[in-house]
Amino acid sequence: MRGLILSGGKGTRLRPLTYTGAKQLVPVANKPILWYGIEAMVASGIHDIGIIISPETGDQVRALTGDGERFGARIRYILQEEPLGLAHAVQIARPFLRDGNFAMYLGDNLIQTGLETLVHRFESAQPEALILLKRVANPTAFGVAELDAQGRVQRLVEKPKQPPSDLALVGVYLFSHLVHKAIDAIRPSARGELEITDAIQQLIAMGSRVESVELTGWWLDTGKKDDLLEANRIILDERTHCPMAGTLDSGSKISGRVCIGSGTRLVRSTVRGPVTIGDDCQIEDTYIGPYTSIAGGVQLKNVDIEHSVVMEGTRISDAGRIVDSLIGQRTVIARHTGKPEAHRFLLGDDSLIEL
Ligand code: G1P
Repeated sequence: MRGLILSGGKGTRLRPLTYTGAKQLVPVANKPILWYGIEAMVASGIHDIGIIISPETGDQVRALTGDGERFGARIRYILQEEPLGLAHAVQIARPFLRDGNFAMYLGDNLIQTGLETLVHRFESAQPEALILLKRVANPTAFGVAELDAQGRVQRLVEKPKQPPSDLALVGVYLFSHLVHKAIDAIRPSARGELEITDAIQQLIAMGSRVESVELTGWWLDTGKKDDLLEANRIILDERTHCPMAGTLDSGSKISGRVCIGSGTRLVRSTVRGPVTIGDDCQIEDTYIGPYTSIAGGVQLKNVDIEHSVVMEGTRISDAGRIVDSLIGQRTVIARHTGKPEAHRFLLGDDSLIEL
C-alpha cells in the first residue's frame, strides 16, 4: 500500500505564520506537524509516500523533509499547482498511486492512535473506502457522516449547515483504486474544490462498500493557534523519548520531563516540564513552565514563559510573563520601559516587538 500526505493549502487560519511558511511545518514539540503523519505511515508499514505540495511552500517542505531516508521511507513530491481540493490532489497523484490501495492523510492533522489497526482492517475487510470518524461539538466545520443502524456509512456531506450527525470525517482515509472512478464522476463544490467527501459519497452511490471506524482517542486539526497549542500540550505530555544534553549552572533547576538539546546553556533558570528545548539555546534568568516548546537557537533572558511555542532563532528579553503564545521564527521581543505584565501573542516570522 502507498501513502499520500497532503501538504499544500494556504493555512489562512494560522496567518501570519503561514505568510512565510507551510502550516504543516509549524512545529509541535519541536517537530513539524507533517512529520508525525509520515512517522505514523511508516509505523503502519507504508514506506512509499507521495507528498502533495503547493508552489508557495513546496520547496520548504521538500528541503526540510528530504527524500524520506531519515524516516525509513521513500518520499516523492507531487506539485499541485492550485488548491483545487483534496480529490483533485488524489487525481494528480494517480500516476504515483498506480491504481493500488492507498492511505491518505491530511498533513495538518494529528491523531492519537497509529494507523496500524486501520490498515489491517482495510486489508482484511477489503472495502472500497475506510474512513475515520470522530464525534465533535461543531460538525458544521467538517465533512459529516450519517450511519445506518448497523454502523454502515449511508451518506456524507461536506460542511453541512444542518449536520445529520456529530460524526466528523477525520483527515485519514483508506481507498481502493475505485476512488479514481468516483473522482472522475464528481464536480467541484460551491467552494470551487473537488471534495474527497463528495468522492466517497459517489462511491456509495456506485454501490461500493464504504466502512468507518470511530476514533476514540484525540484528534487535532492543527489549523488554528489554540489547536496547535493543544497539540503541543498533548504531545509533550505523551512523548516518551527525551534527550538530555546541554549544560546547566548550579543556579539552574529542572523538574518533570524536560528535553534539552546539545549546545544549549541554562544559567540561573528554572524549567518545569513537560518542556522541550532545542539545540544551541541560551537561557538566562528565565522560568520556562509546563507545555512549552522552545526551538533551536533561541535566546531567552529574564523571561517567564508557559504553555507556548517559540520557533527557531527567536530572541526574547525582559518581556515579563508570556502565556498561550505561538511565536514565529527570528522574532525579537525586547523591553524598553514599563512594568512586567502577562501578554498573549500570535506573531509571524521576522516580527519585531518592543514592549
Ligand atoms: C477537510 C475535509 C473535511 C474533513 C477535514 C478534516 O476539510 O474536506 O471533510 O472533515 O478536512 O480536517 P478542510 O480542512 O479542507 O476544510
